[in-house]
Amino acid sequence: MPTTRRQILWHRFFSAGLVSLCILNSLAIPSSYAQDYPPDRERGKAVFEHYCQNCHGKTGRGDGPGAVALKVPPANFQRFQSFLKSDEELLRTIEHGVVFSPMHSWRGQLTDGEMQDVVAYIRVLSQ
Ligand code: HEC
Repeated sequence: MPTTRRQILWHRFFSAGLVSLCILNSLAIPSSYAQDYPPDRERGKAVFEHYCQNCHGKTGRGDGPGAVALKVPPANFQRFQSFLKSDEELLRTIEHGVVFSPMHSWRGQLTDGEMQDVVAYIRVLSQ
């Protein structure tokens, strides 16, 4: 097969493109948070009611029925302390949980999209 100069140039062009794509990908904000649709509060509400409300309470004050039995009280999302946290911080807590606390990691149980949706809903509660 004759390799023309043109073919070699194309080859270089494509491999350079691939390499820079990989680099760009690894630079992008943690890809586990990548979601191709914007967070949805309504979906977040459904997730919250199903998984979180028992501890965090209907209005997010940490006064759900399950909270009574806990040694570490659930976070009250309406407190300034929570309000001031960034979405990223809340996401990290949801994803990894809090050590020595009933707040376990939700990774595996919730999808990335659901975690982002539930953060959007927590924002609604903390307003
Ligand atoms: C078994 C009870 C329980 C359940 C269920 C639960 N949490 Fe928690 N959560 C806690 C407790 C307790 C804390 C406080 C941990 C600490 O501060 O040590 C907490 C803390 C948090 C925080 C950190 C808030 C802050 O200000 O740093 C977030 C965010 C959170 N929970 C979100 C969720 C979400 C979302 C769900 C549902 C998917 C959920 N939690 C389900 C008990 C629970």
